[in-house]
Amino acid sequence: MRFTTNLTAGDAASILDAQAPGRPAFVEHSHVVSKVARSIALALRESETGIDVERIATRAMLHDFGRSCTHGNYHGWVGYAMLRRRGLAHYARGCVTHWLRGLPLEEVLHLSPSARPQFMKRVYEELDLPQMTDDDLVVSVADFSVAHTSIVPLEERERDLVARYGDSRWLRRNAELARAHRSELERRTGLSLDQIVPELGKHRDAAREGLHK
Ligand SMILES: [Fe+2]
Repeated sequence: MRFTTNLTAGDAASILDAQAPGRPAFVEHSHVVSKVARSIALALRESETGIDVERIATRAMLHDFGRSCTHGNYHGWVGYAMLRRRGLAHYARGCVTHWLRGLPLEEVLHLSPSARPQFMKRVYEELDLPQMTDDDLVVSVADFSVAHTSIVPLEERERDLVARYGDSRWLRRNAELARAHRSELERRTGLSLDQIVPELGKHRDAAREGLHK
């Protein structure tokens, strides 16, 4: 399937459904990530020009496309390569950038000694990394705000990932970068992420009530 016109998040959802029918967990997760990304993109568009809300929501919808094939460490690259083969590389940046999150190449090679330098170098060249575009920043923060299908603060998502996959320097560094991306978006929108994403605000209020009980 090749698209000559702009893809919407709805189109991306159809592509995802055709690729992974029956709404597996990662597809449900992708729908929520796309919704959160749209909220952030809308807030960013209020304060800046040149923000393509639909493209951001589309890239967010497709960020975990590779999970239709593998849940391994390289699902980000696999998803990108699968979409590129369909002529959809333009919408597939999030597959790679939610994985590498703006890390310099040298740091990736240091943090994951099993990564092959030549291969990683090609990935960096293909996507002009480690540069993070506005779309990448939004997808990074949106993805880190969604544990399965629950919208949670980045700090809670970090705890969830450590509990699920075990602690690692890679994970901690990714969480640190996601927090830096949140700070940048908060500065640029003039709003906290809690204000931008209503579910996060509710989450915070519920946690506060819990404390006072
Ligand atoms: Fe994700």
